[in-house]
Amino acid sequence: MNICGAKHLVLIGMMGAGKSSVGRVLARKLDRPLLDSDELIEQRSGRTVREIWTTDGEAEFRKLETRTLIDVLSGDEPSVIAAAGGVVLETANRTVLAESDAHVVWLLANVELLIDRVKSGTHRPLLDDDPDAMMRAMHRDRDELYRDVADAIVSVDNRSVQDVAKAVLRCAG
Ligand code: S3P
Repeated sequence: MNICGAKHLVLIGMMGAGKSSVGRVLARKLDRPLLDSDELIEQRSGRTVREIWTTDGEAEFRKLETRTLIDVLSGDEPSVIAAAGGVVLETANRTVLAESDAHVVWLLANVELLIDRVKSGTHRPLLDDDPDAMMRAMHRDRDELYRDVADAIVSVDNRSVQDVAKAVLRCAG
């Protein structure tokens, strides 16, 4: 699929794969807005991801995530969308991704790299208890889900953010 024909470019992948930083570079290169699903949820609700999670629970957070994903995918302006790691968990999200004319790129990373990267940041309540074990379990369990919805897969291992962005454009072009 050609990126010029695709309405939105959606980056999916595990926490720490670099969706937001690669998304920023791509948005600049393509002269498109960057829509980050976690950031949109925070702006709309006036609460942080962690606050929503703690007060309302994961299920409520996932509902907001689905609503946000549907909204951004139905937007008219072609955008770069950095979709949070858990977006593939809900069947409804996978369906809307598959049915949209967006180009969906999975940023695939070695689990050791991801574990190293997620040591900073506060918006990841899933990693509060045993981050390493959780990351390994999610990496294993979500593999098939990311694969299912991806139009293309780009490895981020041993690549700079700029190089990943270039690789995304190559496989989309
Ligand atoms: C989550 C990923 C996080 C955030 C929340 C849950 C997940 O976003 O939405 O902590 O389930 O993978 P990032 O992928 O942007 O870190």
